[in-house]
Amino acid sequence: MSTTPRLTTVPTARPPGVAHDAPPPERLPVTLPQLAEHKRLGEPIAMVTAYDYPSAQVAEAAGVDVVLVGDSGAMTVLGYDSTVPVSVEEMLVLASAVRRGCRTPLLVADLPFGSYEASDELAVATAQRFIKESGADAVKLEGGGTMVARARAIVGAGIPVMGHVGLTPQTATALGGYRAQGRTATRALEVARDAIDLQRAGCFAIVFEAVPAAVCDTLMTRMEIPVIGIGAGGSTDGQVLVFHDLLGIYNGISPRFAKRYAELKAAMVAGVEEYVAEVRSRAFPAPEHTYSIDPGELAEFRGLLEQS
Ligand code: KIV
Repeated sequence: MSTTPRLTTVPTARPPGVAHDAPPPERLPVTLPQLAEHKRLGEPIAMVTAYDYPSAQVAEAAGVDVVLVGDSGAMTVLGYDSTVPVSVEEMLVLASAVRRGCRTPLLVADLPFGSYEASDELAVATAQRFIKESGADAVKLEGGGTMVARARAIVGAGIPVMGHVGLTPQTATALGGYRAQGRTATRALEVARDAIDLQRAGCFAIVFEAVPAAVCDTLMTRMEIPVIGIGAGGSTDGQVLVFHDLLGIYNGISPRFAKRYAELKAAMVAGVEEYVAEVRSRAFPAPEHTYSIDPGELAEFRGLLEQS
């Protein structure tokens, strides 16, 4: 588990209707048994991605249960065309910053493409780096088939693993592109087999991405671990969205399941445009943004400067 010391109690989101200057309630760090208990009680699990210190602080303050340092950060914050090029070193920088920004949510780090597929040894070594160097609590890997053995090996090394089936962006080319998976009986059965195999391998939770809602409804009867859906309908045990999609920061292609709860990019551009206009008109900085000096000191300085 995390090598970073965790606070025993931390502030979290206020219930609706409670003033923002009211002291926040206290919340303990989320644990794996708590997630299992949420499933048992039918209490939905809220998961969001984060990639840096401020987005982690937002997730913490909003009271999410699980934060994923997704390799989607390759696109949303690093500007790559896909998740494929991002390196372990880059993901470690993102995950470490997120760890510094949040204490309460369970922190899961995505293993990037090429960092775990080749062998069980490689998978365990990469997973260990994320736990030791970034302070993540768990790792996530994509796919079934031979990846089931990788998941089992990492679990066997004492590191919690989240699986990911359906649309797996790291191997999207092989899946025919960024498209929903499990829309034929045969493909739905493959998704189901992968999910059940990952569950048997010891994954503590699993992401279902872009799978028809009716397929998920059917499969949920077989799932004993928490299932977190993204474009997988409403019957999963929780939902995950990409931070930049849900807040309207990222301008790339938005899948149909990426509901926007804010339009922050427009607000950010408007703010910077106003700043640029005020710099150019000299409206900024105003007197309240500048420092003063005692008039006597100023006169002395001017005299000294003349003599120099
Ligand atoms: O990288 C990511 O953001 C993800 C989520 C979409 C589950 O894998």
